[in-house]
Amino acid sequence: MSQDIQVALVTGGNRGIGYELVKQLAQTGFRVLLACRDPKTGREAAQKLKESNLDVSFLRMDVSDQDSIRKAADEVNEKYGRLDVLINNAGVYFDENKQLLTMEPELLENTMDTNFFGVYYVVRSFITLMKKQGYGRIINVSSEMGAMRDMSSRGTGAYRVSKLAMNGLTQLLAAELQGDIKINAVCPGWVSSDMGGPSAPKNPKQAAQSILWLATIGPDGPSGGFFRDGKPLKW
Ligand SMILES: NC(=O)c1ccc[n+]([C@@H]2O[C@H](COP(=O)([O-])OP(=O)(O)OC[C@H]3O[C@@H](n4cnc5c(N)ncnc54)[C@H](OP(=O)(O)O)[C@@H]3O)[C@@H](O)[C@H]2O)c1
Repeated sequence: MSQDIQVALVTGGNRGIGYELVKQLAQTGFRVLLACRDPKTGREAAQKLKESNLDVSFLRMDVSDQDSIRKAADEVNEKYGRLDVLINNAGVYFDENKQLLTMEPELLENTMDTNFFGVYYVVRSFITLMKKQGYGRIINVSSEMGAMRDMSSRGTGAYRVSKLAMNGLTQLLAAELQGDIKINAVCPGWVSSDMGGPSAPKNPKQAAQSILWLATIGPDGPSGGFFRDGKPLKW
């Protein structure tokens, strides 16, 4: 196996926006790890892309389980020895039309486990591989629903606060990271996935296209930014 090919990892790569991110990264020439918590759907999704001659492999990783994240990072280190691009795409949306003070608190906790702590522990476990080569591009798939300026209306509080925290984490980690390691947050827009529903104006292919420029930015590219369709967003 060539050690020169850049390696990219996408969490929640088995369906929706994540699946398109995997596909387009592989079409660009990356060796892509399709990370997913369910081995059956993950292997099936990876196999479908392999049949189009794309360099895609399944990696088991549940982002709400720290042990699973550590095992996945060890496996990537042993098999590939590098990670160039990490896309934190996996996400949950449990609380449409619910309010924070009346919902089951578990909804908030479970949402934070995946959308916030999942991102934190994944970055923490994989950053060593990026630091080793002094290079890395991390993209956090966020949402404008997590913009601070959008916090004064009621509803969907668990999802929104989880993306608000993810946005803050993006800026804080950008301040901590040194060298040519960049981390940015991006809103894909409203997308017709299982999460977005069929009425959304953008499809997963268009959403992935609008995200992937951040995977190949040069050393002068942004870090600690929040973008949609290539344009900066207000936090
Ligand atoms: N769709 C939109 O309109 C929209 C708008 C703004 C932001 N976003 C963000 O875009 C990202 C992708 O969303 P999507 O629309 O593609 O949603 P989706 O179709 O519902 O897919 C969600 C993905 O996340 C995975 N996932 C959930 N919990 C996980 C866990 N604990 N460990 C590993 N994987 C997990 C799912 O895996 P399983 O198949 O195992 O459940 C699935 O692959 C999310 O972060 C979402 O918040 C979406």
